Amino acid sequence: MKQFTSVHDVTNINALVAEALELKSNPYAHQELGKNKTIGLVFLNPSLRTRMSTQKAALNLGMNAMVLNIDKEGWALELQDGAVMNGTTVEHVREAAAVLGQYVDIIGVRSFPGLKNREEDYTEQVFNKFVEYCGVPIVSLESATRHPLQSLADLITITELKTVDRPKVVLTWAPHIKPLPQAVPNSFAEWMCKADVDFVITHPEGYELSEDFTQGATITHKQDEALAGADFVYVKNWSAYEPYGAVTGVHPEWMLNNEKLKATNDAKVMHCLPVRRNLELSDEILDGPNSIVIHEAGNRVWAAQVVLKQLLQTL
Ligand code: CP
Repeated sequence: MKQFTSVHDVTNINALVAEALELKSNPYAHQELGKNKTIGLVFLNPSLRTRMSTQKAALNLGMNAMVLNIDKEGWALELQDGAVMNGTTVEHVREAAAVLGQYVDIIGVRSFPGLKNREEDYTEQVFNKFVEYCGVPIVSLESATRHPLQSLADLITITELKTVDRPKVVLTWAPHIKPLPQAVPNSFAEWMCKADVDFVITHPEGYELSEDFTQGATITHKQDEALAGADFVYVKNWSAYEPYGAVTGVHPEWMLNNEKLKATNDAKVMHCLPVRRNLELSDEILDGPNSIVIHEAGNRVWAAQVVLKQLLQTL
């Protein structure tokens, strides 16, 4: 693996999950691999899980980890090529990324979408500038359109906890009051469409995801039909593609609760977190026996560790 920006950078997702689970059972077996190697984790947006789990994964591999909250601690970044920098920006991403690449062996970058301009977001203008100019292998810590470390952790979790060979996995849209990125559902869909699962996506009309990410999924607007017999229910809000980045309706009736769960095969409930309680997901689910959100967050370490291990092996 030369970079980790999407499922397309992975040759065999089942082998990657198996290797991650080996690391989970023996976390410190490869400490020599990361000796004298450094990862730089660059955040343009907030994070709890991604930041801590990737640092922990690096430490498990014997690496050093440096974190830069570049939006708060760095110089104000200019992202536009050809800009006359006579305004508030101080450093161009061309120099910033190239200089960071001088200090570290691997770079992780988190860059959320603006949700104003679909073309700008879906061509990954900010993230790809780091890829282009940093000169070292890059790991997505969530880009404008994808969150592959989250999706890998999700697949690890499903693989660990499934009770049938080919589980039914349902991605259900959840209510929210703010426009959220499509990165997590895009990425989850992309990974589930390649996994050994029966994959169903359900959302209200107007929240269709791009077919670029959902090829092979069954898609329905009927949440109750989607939930029937589900083994895993993945709860996530996302904003609309049309109009781009809009909240076209809050739809509180879409929040998952124990009543809705009765239609499932005693489904395990997943969410990438952070979650707004009693808006996106009910207390009774989050505090009940079906929630596996903490287990899922724990698996972020093994997702990051297997990716860093494979990148270190190419250095
Ligand atoms: N799920 C996730 O990426 O969490 P953070 O935004 O806290 O990193």
